[in-house]
Amino acid sequence: MNMEKLVSLCKRRGFIFQSSEIYGGMNGCWDYGPVGTELKRNIKDLWWESVVQMNDNVVGMDASILMHPRIWEASGHVDNFKDQMIDCKECKKRFRADHLDGDKCPECGGELTEPRAFNLMFKTHVGALEDAASVAYLRPETAQAIFAQFLTVVNCSRQKVPFGIAQIGKSFRNEITPRNFIFRSREFEQMELEFFVEPGTDEEWNKKWVDARIQWYKDIGITSDRLRIREHEKEELAHYAKSCVDVEYKFPFGWQELEGIANRSDYDLSQHQEFSGKKMVYRDVVANKVFVPYVIETSAGVDRILLTVLADAYDEEEVDGDVRVVLRFSSKVAPVKTAVFPLFKKPALREVARKIESDVRKALPVLYDETGSIGKRYRRQDEIGTPFCVTVDYESLEDNAVTVRFRDSMRQERVGVDKVREFILDKMDGEL
Ligand code: GAP
Repeated sequence: MNMEKLVSLCKRRGFIFQSSEIYGGMNGCWDYGPVGTELKRNIKDLWWESVVQMNDNVVGMDASILMHPRIWEASGHVDNFKDQMIDCKECKKRFRADHLDGDKCPECGGELTEPRAFNLMFKTHVGALEDAASVAYLRPETAQAIFAQFLTVVNCSRQKVPFGIAQIGKSFRNEITPRNFIFRSREFEQMELEFFVEPGTDEEWNKKWVDARIQWYKDIGITSDRLRIREHEKEELAHYAKSCVDVEYKFPFGWQELEGIANRSDYDLSQHQEFSGKKMVYRDVVANKVFVPYVIETSAGVDRILLTVLADAYDEEEVDGDVRVVLRFSSKVAPVKTAVFPLFKKPALREVARKIESDVRKALPVLYDETGSIGKRYRRQDEIGTPFCVTVDYESLEDNAVTVRFRDSMRQERVGVDKVREFILDKMDGEL
């Protein structure tokens, strides 16, 4: 699979478009189309289900993107959230120092400038005056809101350490070189869990969450051979981390990080305690202990996972002398689960097809299509990874049955009109 083919499929079929394309595009920003939006929702729902719904010691929150600027001083982002950038003196291209190999421009061979530090946070002003007192930042991670609200959530949720707070939301980074499609962008979504534990139990919890998160990727259908975990070397650790493990995927452009699982120790709560003057401690009344909890963080990028799901599912095969492009999504992530077609645009066939469509719609996202040859309609659904296609033909009017076609095997089976919904729900976790 090459990335150009995937990018062109994403545009053609309504997964992902360049932002502001009619004005020449906005570098590092992307828009999700109809099926891309469904796919993204499925990924977020599956994460929420596994991290929040299935754990009675994890609760959710949804914070504002703009926060008090002192938060970013306390967190260390104002001082430390920087990349080194280097410019080419000839062609004026800009690079991240850690993405360069030699001392010449990789594009034109020109001479390079010395590296300069560049803070990745987007700055803005709140209110009418644009002065130093009105500066605010678009959050570069969702995590800090969770730390800042730690006490409030403990009090209202009556959770006891160990417990976690999870959040899904937009983050913004003024990346020097956004690249590899949606892999590195300037506006993206994160799914983060901050899990608060007693100091001394942190290593054990860290291991539990690494195992749980790797299992999640397998459960949503990502090929195991293309997944690995990589422990950070001491010198690459973020300023807040005691240790960090990355979940990586083998993309066409190499092994890359999907998610970081970090032991953030008591760094963040201690920093907020110092900067806000509020005690960020947990009182264990049973054991009669007071401590600043350690934090195990799992931090995943929605867009990166979406790219992984797409890259992992993409397949091409030869069928009757033609190339069939098919996205072999697991049925859990597939944006559309079933498509319903009348073989011809005839009222009697339409009526049956619409009846099936409205029945399946009660349980699953479904799509109705009556335009083009049946072969073309199948190909369109293959390209958006729809697991099942249901076709109503003239025989259906006689035998009250329809053809269900499986995406991966292209096998076809006759199923009674009244049984279609049940049949598909039954097959969802099996043969596709
Ligand atoms: N709270 C910790 C944190 O933000 P990070 O490693 O900087 O850690 C976590 O980011 C995840 O967020 C990454 O593994 C990646 O999936 C996603 N991410 C970070 N920067 C991104 C970008 N520019 N574009 C898309 N996703 C990004």
